[in-house]
Amino acid sequence: MESPDDGVKSAYNSIAGKFFEFRATGRAVYNNYLEMPAMLSMLGDVRKKKVLDIGCGPGINAEALLKRGAIVYGIDISESMIEIAKANIKKANFTVGSVYSMPYKSGFFDIAFASYSVEHFTRLASAFKEIRRVLKKGGIFAFSRSNPLNEVTHRIPGRPYYIRKFGNYFKEGMQSHVWFKGTTSEISISFVHRTLQTHIRTAIKSGFEIMDYAEPKPIPALKKLDKRTYNKMQMIPELSVFKLKAA
Ligand SMILES: C[S@@+](CC[C@H](N)C(=O)[O-])C[C@H]1O[C@@H](n2cnc3c(N)ncnc32)[C@H](O)[C@@H]1O
Repeated sequence: MESPDDGVKSAYNSIAGKFFEFRATGRAVYNNYLEMPAMLSMLGDVRKKKVLDIGCGPGINAEALLKRGAIVYGIDISESMIEIAKANIKKANFTVGSVYSMPYKSGFFDIAFASYSVEHFTRLASAFKEIRRVLKKGGIFAFSRSNPLNEVTHRIPGRPYYIRKFGNYFKEGMQSHVWFKGTTSEISISFVHRTLQTHIRTAIKSGFEIMDYAEPKPIPALKKLDKRTYNKMQMIPELSVFKLKAA
């Protein structure tokens, strides 16, 4: 029987090429002007640190970390994503695998991070415990995900972005997001909506301390490029970024 993780894996396998093109050509506004600046600032100085990128996709963030002097490993459940990452970035160690059982020794990494992948983890506690295992004591785990509050506020067709329908924040469970809408690559990919409380409590129960939490706003350069998205992000929290420490 197919599990939700198999569904996510085959979905990302099918769009890996298109996803890479999207990320690598600068059209990925949310990644380039919001997520990556926030995540890199959370991670701080990574020089000579052993860093694991979990759900690394085609390796764009891994490459940014390499440029900052880190020793980079990347793992992803999608074979096609890892194939692209390996073809484009030679200096990182990429592996196909799932977050629930990773092929690394306990205490191997100084830093682990996950950009927009935690929302796909159907078993959050198992994932967090495995991430804690591969980190040194005192190591850092930073992750970004779409803000759970934003996930339950929906556009009303024909109305401005700031007039929204508010869904049920407390109802956790599977939702889906359509990628590449209106193109031949259009695909619906599932993710799990969870409250902030669940993320925080699961992190603590899995052996982490909370060091920081951010709901970042985009960098100013976005204002010139895409004023509407920039203005929307001044009002609506798009992203959640957590910084945890392995206790
Ligand atoms: C939205 S993409 C983000 C890719 C990359 N982090 C980036 O920001 O460009 C989510 C990635 O998480 C991966 N993923 C989902 N579930 C996973 C799991 N259980 N273990 C490892 N990777 C997973 C997917 O295959 C996909 O490449």
